[in-house]
Amino acid sequence: MLTFSYKHSFFLIFASLILLLGTACKDSVMGDDEVGGGVANPSPFGGKDLTNITYNPQDFALQIPPGFPPMEIPADNPLTEDGVKLGHFLFFDPILSIDSTMSCASCHHPKAAFTDNLAVSPGVDGISGPRSSMSLLNVGFFNKGLFWDGRVQTLEAQALLPVEDPVELHEDWGNVEEKFRRSDFYPELFRKAFGIENTNEITKDLATKAIAQYERTLISGNSKYDKIFYQNDPFLFPTDAELNGNDMFFDEQDPTLVTHAECGHCHGPPLFTANEYFNNGIDSVGSYDDFMDRGLGAITNRELDYGKFRAPSLRNIEFSAPYMRDGRFQTLEEVMDHYSSGGHPFINVDANIKPLNLTEKEKTEIIAFMKMLSDTTYFSDPHYNNPFE
Ligand code: HEC
Ligand code: HEC
Repeated sequence: MLTFSYKHSFFLIFASLILLLGTACKDSVMGDDEVGGGVANPSPFGGKDLTNITYNPQDFALQIPPGFPPMEIPADNPLTEDGVKLGHFLFFDPILSIDSTMSCASCHHPKAAFTDNLAVSPGVDGISGPRSSMSLLNVGFFNKGLFWDGRVQTLEAQALLPVEDPVELHEDWGNVEEKFRRSDFYPELFRKAFGIENTNEITKDLATKAIAQYERTLISGNSKYDKIFYQNDPFLFPTDAELNGNDMFFDEQDPTLVTHAECGHCHGPPLFTANEYFNNGIDSVGSYDDFMDRGLGAITNRELDYGKFRAPSLRNIEFSAPYMRDGRFQTLEEVMDHYSSGGHPFINVDANIKPLNLTEKEKTEIIAFMKMLSDTTYFSDPHYNNPFE
């Protein structure tokens, strides 16, 4: 027992040290750097000329599924074939982590709808952050803030963060830039993607632009729901359970005939998210001070926003257990128990969260409906999988 607690406190001290070091590191990097690219830190080993490699960018033809909105793409980062290709490699490459053990895909794995199927996600040092990894399918359509609390606005800005985050890849961007410049593989890809003329021009800004380009291509819109309702497939029909689930999910029909489950207000089509922030009543609090994770409120500093999080898309939800921002529910059955009970009442819990008193059959039917949103077509598509394998 004594050894255990001794080891335990040693671990805690060690962990806090790492966190402190990580934060100090991050601050200095953020302080020194100019935003907007250019030659940040020319390589001490001297640059290599790349002008003998042809630069001939071709537009990437993004396939937007029927029924989906157009995607907003920043004017300074248009999608090109070679940009997306570079981003695809970077996303799956452990070169981004301090000890070459983890990549973005370690926590955003294709088979888990680009999550990691863990409640919270340990980084390279085995230390976890407070929140659960998020699905990146259709992430290019989420234009009202990224992360559970909306604290970052663009995919480009987001992609800068995991590399230096002490509970994620815990590496230094300067080192990563140097690894790219000295690699046999990456200089040519950066040249083809961005037209740079010398390896010294490889920067984190270009790397994050490429990752963001790849992320915008992670589109999923070919589920049974899509085939029936958007593609009018004449040979596919919803089962009775799926149809009843649909009617409850969207409050269709008279409430005396079909229970209104109110889900569609916050998880509406085509993305199955209203892309807005709500308190869905999962936290038991007596006052605003009780929120352990303030969510949107920590960003806006408004009490009314405490405990509000972005309603996640329910597309491919079958593959991304456990559920909620901290993975507190293991199964969709547990999720349904929560919504059926109405959760914990509090002033800013949304009006659409209330006791629904669903029968077991009704819960099963809403789950059947959610599983209609599963799209397995991307599972075997090389574009969505590890290009190094
Ligand atoms: C150690 C695990 C881990 C690694 C490695 C990781 N992520 Fe994440 N990612 C997370 C977690 C956890 C969240 C949610 C964090 C939050 O909301 O505070 C997240 C959120 C995101 C989001 C926001 C999605 C949305 O819908 O708002 C994007 C985009 C993302 N990650 C991309 C990346 C990229 C790109 C990389 C590699 C450069 C990466 N992640 C590496 C765990 C990880
Ligand atoms: C008032 C808006 C609102 C309503 C109504 C609502 N949800 Fe949610 N839902 C959310 C929010 C916000 C979250 C994330 C909360 C968190 O993690 O803190 C969430 C999370 C979820 C998750 C977990 C997603 C994940 O990626 O972990 C599922 C599944 C879900 N809701 C299903 C439903 C179903 C089914 C209904 C109807 C019975 C419903 N929701 C009604 C806002 C809502």
